[in-house]
Amino acid sequence: MATTPEIAPNLVRVSHQDAKTFAISLLTASGVSARNAEITASALVQADSRGVESHGILRLPSYLARVRNGVLDPVAEPTLTHITPVVAQVDGHNGFGFPAAHLGMDTAIAMARVFGIGMVSVKHSNHFGMSAWIVKQAVEADMMSLVFTNSSPALPVWGGREKMMGVSPIACGAPGGKGKDAKPFILDMAPSVAARGKIHKALRRGEKIPADWALDGEGKQTDDPAKALEGVMLPMGGPKGSALAIMMDVFSGVLSGSAFAGGVTGPYDMSKPGDVGHFFVAIKPDLFMNLDEFKNRMDILYQKVVKGEKMHGVDRIYFPGEIEQLSEEQRLKDGIPYAKEEIDVLNAEAEKLGVDKIPLME
Ligand SMILES: NC(=O)c1ccc[n+]([C@@H]2O[C@H](COP(=O)([O-])OP(=O)(O)OC[C@H]3O[C@@H](n4cnc5c(N)ncnc54)[C@H](O)[C@@H]3O)[C@@H](O)[C@H]2O)c1
Repeated sequence: MATTPEIAPNLVRVSHQDAKTFAISLLTASGVSARNAEITASALVQADSRGVESHGILRLPSYLARVRNGVLDPVAEPTLTHITPVVAQVDGHNGFGFPAAHLGMDTAIAMARVFGIGMVSVKHSNHFGMSAWIVKQAVEADMMSLVFTNSSPALPVWGGREKMMGVSPIACGAPGGKGKDAKPFILDMAPSVAARGKIHKALRRGEKIPADWALDGEGKQTDDPAKALEGVMLPMGGPKGSALAIMMDVFSGVLSGSAFAGGVTGPYDMSKPGDVGHFFVAIKPDLFMNLDEFKNRMDILYQKVVKGEKMHGVDRIYFPGEIEQLSEEQRLKDGIPYAKEEIDVLNAEAEKLGVDKIPLME
């Protein structure tokens, strides 16, 4: 008989279905349409299932505080304008970022099915959480993709000391091979040493952070998440991480007509609309060969990568996105672990909105 793995004493488990139903109830009680609540809740629970808890349902209290403060419009519907047969623009009208992003990738996929490629720029949007859920949307349609966004200032440019660029994730993907062990390629990474959401998660859970993630307000390394949030995130790879953050701003902010150059408002800032920009490309992988051949070649690449010789001290080599996929497989079966303090935060939100508390697994 399968047993549920042990978890730390301050953690409890919630099934992914219950987490999603709960998230939908908070969103619809805040005025979000059933369809947009479904898209948003699904993306947030996918993050929790994939072990990216920094971008899961614990984001809801801050998103909903922005709704209550009148800086995020819960009833806004994204609109679509076709520019050329392969280019479209979505206006998010300051609604939740998730439905705007979903419409953007859906449209890019539809164009790529007919013309081989589809490009969508999204303006006046908000935070869309973990980029990988949009890459997965494309993978599930047998499409390759690029998923870019800009975000609020948190990172200095190389050589600078003020927050200027966002910790804006760069993501892309491709469908995997066909074998039972085959995995899609899903790269989703912030250009900083670690995503800022991981600092918020450590703060929520009373944990310390590695000293190389961020500087405090005085420019000193810190392992205290509260002090790190007063300072700046450190770019990965020095000038290279800083350049990737600028790249996200060029493609998502400058190009779309949304805020850029430090002008995006963050998801924890209640002062004004986010005005986030995104940039999506979908590419049909069977342009130069049939889909089976492409998938066989992906499988060869995957096998070559994960079966390569390991460096000393490494037990297993993973493909990009594989660790998250393994977490997802496990958590869909065993439930998602949350800290008790996090459940309290979610239940306080439920009480404010008059909806049922989040049910815990036995
Ligand atoms: N929407 C926003 O504004 C925003 C901003 C920042 C971050 N985020 C999200 O935060 C999340 C976390 O970002 P991060 O940079 O901290 O991610 P991360 O460092 O945990 O992972 C980055 C990438 O490296 C791969 N990876 C990690 N460990 C690996 C290993 N041992 N072997 C092989 N591959 C490995 C992962 O599969 C992933 O593709 C992302 O989902 C990102 O989209 C969102």
